[in-house]
Amino acid sequence: MTTTEPSSPIRTAPLPSVGDPSGRRFGPEEIEAVTRVITSGQLNSTVGGETRAWEQEFGAYYGVPDVVACSSGTAALHLAVAAVDPGPGDEIITTGLSDAGTVLPIVMQNAIPVFADVDPQTGILDPASVEAAITSRTKAIIVVHLFGVAAPVEELREIADRHDVILIEDCAQAYATRTASGALAGTIGHLGCFSLQQSKHITAGDGGMVISKNHPELARRARLFADKAWPRDTNERTHLFLSLNYRMTELQAAVARAQLPKLDGIVGDRRARAAQLAAAIADLPGLRPAPDAGTSYWQFPIFVDPEQAGGDGHPYAKVLGAEGIGASAGYIQRPLYLTPVLAEAKTYGDSGFPLSEARSRYVRGLCPVTESLIDGRLLVISWNENYTEADVDDIAAALRKASEQTLG
Ligand SMILES: Cc1ncc(COP(=O)(O)O)c(C=O)c1O
Repeated sequence: MTTTEPSSPIRTAPLPSVGDPSGRRFGPEEIEAVTRVITSGQLNSTVGGETRAWEQEFGAYYGVPDVVACSSGTAALHLAVAAVDPGPGDEIITTGLSDAGTVLPIVMQNAIPVFADVDPQTGILDPASVEAAITSRTKAIIVVHLFGVAAPVEELREIADRHDVILIEDCAQAYATRTASGALAGTIGHLGCFSLQQSKHITAGDGGMVISKNHPELARRARLFADKAWPRDTNERTHLFLSLNYRMTELQAAVARAQLPKLDGIVGDRRARAAQLAAAIADLPGLRPAPDAGTSYWQFPIFVDPEQAGGDGHPYAKVLGAEGIGASAGYIQRPLYLTPVLAEAKTYGDSGFPLSEARSRYVRGLCPVTESLIDGRLLVISWNENYTEADVDDIAAALRKASEQTLG
């Protein structure tokens, strides 16, 4: 007979978290930045200089001439879609495995999200599935560098160019990610979008950026869209097309400016700790970490083979949670096309516009790989630049325990 002794969890003290100072790199630089703006008396970016300076600095980091700051990552995606300027019913191909901010701007611009499936090794759009989804109405592709892993953007750009559509890179989770060709994620597509929301590599609470290396005309439309299409450089008070106010404030920009010099250190530390965890769990059956090359580790995703691992991500996440380690199975609860806004076309009044027809395609089975990952083949470990080696030892020990228990 075996007796199980009650034991305390592997982790009793909380791990560093993006929700409090333990997992964020805020210091005197950010405090000085906020104080500088308040002292200046000017908090608005159409007059003050912080946001324009932030755009310059972000552009220098990315080696791009055109940068537009805005109020959130979702806003950045909205700017990008509006720059593409789809007509009602035009199509934009994207993924069902992302934050809703990737997809909602498509519908706001009255275009139709068309969902392609993802690669089971990464959870990122599969170029073959994208190409198969292209029609005469396709205007753009939005690809997500999920969890900071590089999407195959070189291949997607080639497909986009061949079909004369725009490639938008959603880099909300992928600051300083390097793509297969060694480029910074966000610089291969026509437009790259970033988020400064609290959980991202660098943050201003909220905020967003759109960058473009070679497409000033798209960047100009994006800039106008963020500012009521008011061409301030012409001194004319007029509004050139339908748009909104998505401006960044000077406070956000000043904090972002203080965060940027810390980015390489943040990514370097996330990568070092990720290499430690990958090595520590290499012998656990059925658990495969995401590819490491160029990855900036917004989170630490593990792809689970339930037959080898004894179960899918759910029992693993349960054990990890009990051991004091932040983890979740599936990342999101359902593919984006199964959320009410899309599946039930909850859009404008009861019109269902523009999804009245498209919604019949938003059903289970549309993207089988996406669904299998969300249903449990994906295990996401919360990641942070302030994890110590001892913290990662604890995470590895908890994963080992989860493996032993799940395998029985
Ligand atoms: C991949 C992705 N796209 C878009 C967004 C939207 O960004 P935000 O929350 O700043 O609006 C997020 C953020 O959560 C994201 O992770």
